[in-house]
Amino acid sequence: MSNDNKFKSINWTGSSLILLDQRKIPFSREYLECNSLELVITAIKQMIVRGAPAIALSGMYGIALYLLGINKKPEYLELENKLKSLLDSRPTAVNLKLAIERYTSVINKEKFNSSSLENLTSETISFANLIFKEDLDVNSQIANNGTLLFPENQKNISILTHCNTGALATAGIGTAIGVMRALKKKGYNLTVYASETRPYHQGSRLTAWELKEEEIECFIIGDSMSAWLMNDRKIDAVLVGADRITKNGDTANKIGTLSHAIIAQNFKVPFYVAASSTSFDFNIENGNDIHIEMRAEDELTQNSFLKDENGKNYIPKGVLSPLGAKALNPSFDVTPSKYITGIITEKGVISPVNQNNIKSIIGA
Ligand code: MRU
Repeated sequence: MSNDNKFKSINWTGSSLILLDQRKIPFSREYLECNSLELVITAIKQMIVRGAPAIALSGMYGIALYLLGINKKPEYLELENKLKSLLDSRPTAVNLKLAIERYTSVINKEKFNSSSLENLTSETISFANLIFKEDLDVNSQIANNGTLLFPENQKNISILTHCNTGALATAGIGTAIGVMRALKKKGYNLTVYASETRPYHQGSRLTAWELKEEEIECFIIGDSMSAWLMNDRKIDAVLVGADRITKNGDTANKIGTLSHAIIAQNFKVPFYVAASSTSFDFNIENGNDIHIEMRAEDELTQNSFLKDENGKNYIPKGVLSPLGAKALNPSFDVTPSKYITGIITEKGVISPVNQNNIKSIIGA
């Protein structure tokens, strides 16, 4: 399996999972070797690995590690419990849930009962490799479809993006960032504005780092600066990813996405979501029913997310607020479909975004 990324964020060696530690980017490039499901779950919770597709892929390799680490075949219930604790690690993105559902239809109870531990392990590894490869291909197809939205005769384009949707978050070149990389390949001169994405700074740390690696011009802006930006400069599109898209096209994505969408509509800037068909949750009618993950208050008040397991800070300890100050830290928000110009998927672009168009393109 290969892609043209300059780094490997998720690397399966055959007996362990090596994750690029995203807490430490851009301060250092360090890898964490996971030899157990428990460590993979911790890595997901602590956002050592993050981004909806990357969480799902790492999780399934985590199940392979669980089976590799035992000598005796477990009861089916034990496997189900492991899958449940994995599923609980981060609730908003749907990709992990769909991967687990697909896995349990491959390794169903009947198959489980009649297979040896060795066979189950090798089928689990094959499944994880398969969805890794699928994500890689899907990224390229999304990128191709996304480039078609930009006129061939206007080569200078400016894009606002939010959070991180690139090689760090996927198996391949990414979703929204994948479109940007494909545009550059096609000869467009890109200027990308990456909103910092507080409190975890996926924009100012991760997206700015990835775009620098790809030699794409990038300006970091504060999350609150997008109205100024769209008023002051010509922005051709807002391009973001997704964690869960409902039947009617409402889209959960990193907190702050909704305000960019509302502002984009005001300034008549097209607002695109780039996501794979595995981001759709057809069990949910609309965005009101998406469970939004609330994360720790001290991510806002103390930058504590940049601490390692021993409490050591990667950046100088930053106390950002008075001691004892309370904070709310919803990790995602939901952008109603009425603000979304189009959803760029590997199967085509859904526009306008409504249940019928979603059905006819995604097919469910
Ligand atoms: O909390 P995170 O960093 O996992 O959130 C990530 C996002 O919201 C991304 O935009 C989304 O998962 C798409 S990544 C291709």
